Amino acid sequence: MPEEYELQGVIFTEEQIAAKAIEIAAEISRDYKGRHVVMVGVLKGAVMWMSELLKRLDQDLDVSIDFMAVASYGMDTKTSGVVKINKDLDWSVDGKHVILVEDILDSGVTLEYLVKYLGSKNPASVSSCVLLDKPSGRKVDVEADYVGFVVDDIFIVGYGLDVAQKYRNLPFITSVKTE
Ligand code: IMP
Ligand code: MG
Repeated sequence: MPEEYELQGVIFTEEQIAAKAIEIAAEISRDYKGRHVVMVGVLKGAVMWMSELLKRLDQDLDVSIDFMAVASYGMDTKTSGVVKINKDLDWSVDGKHVILVEDILDSGVTLEYLVKYLGSKNPASVSSCVLLDKPSGRKVDVEADYVGFVVDDIFIVGYGLDVAQKYRNLPFITSVKTE
């Protein structure tokens, strides 16, 4: 793995992402009207997307938030296929409608694992919302319920997503060259 990564051009601007968040937040607000919702963000990649969505939800939607942290990649750009929980939920989701919020759906290993895990905590329902979907990377048969943008088989950084912990701060989506 090189020390330096070559940043490519902008793929989705901050404005495009904000517009998408408004669209998806409106859908979620409609779908979950009158229900107790817990949005569970997956640290660290989902932080920007999660906050963008939260701000745009209907103001009288009954929503609380929680976070989980998982590791599957280490410092590499390919999944290890193993998911480890580094930080669990702070609060019970018993009887609540859970929306799992992820940065990107790639192999599907993480999402499948987390949806099953949350499903075992006696919630009223579990759905998932991802900023990005990379269908070409799929190794397990799983789809997200709400998808921001579909991307090609490239390594994405920015807007919360990293390569070796870099570039999470970029306000837009871009990519880096890998090997
Ligand atoms: P999956 O388990 O292979 O679906 O991978 C999900 C996790 O891998 C995401 O939550 C990201 O943290 C990471 N990931 C997958 N693809 C990318 C990418 O293109 N850029 C940055 N992180 C990625
Ligand atoms: Mg992640």
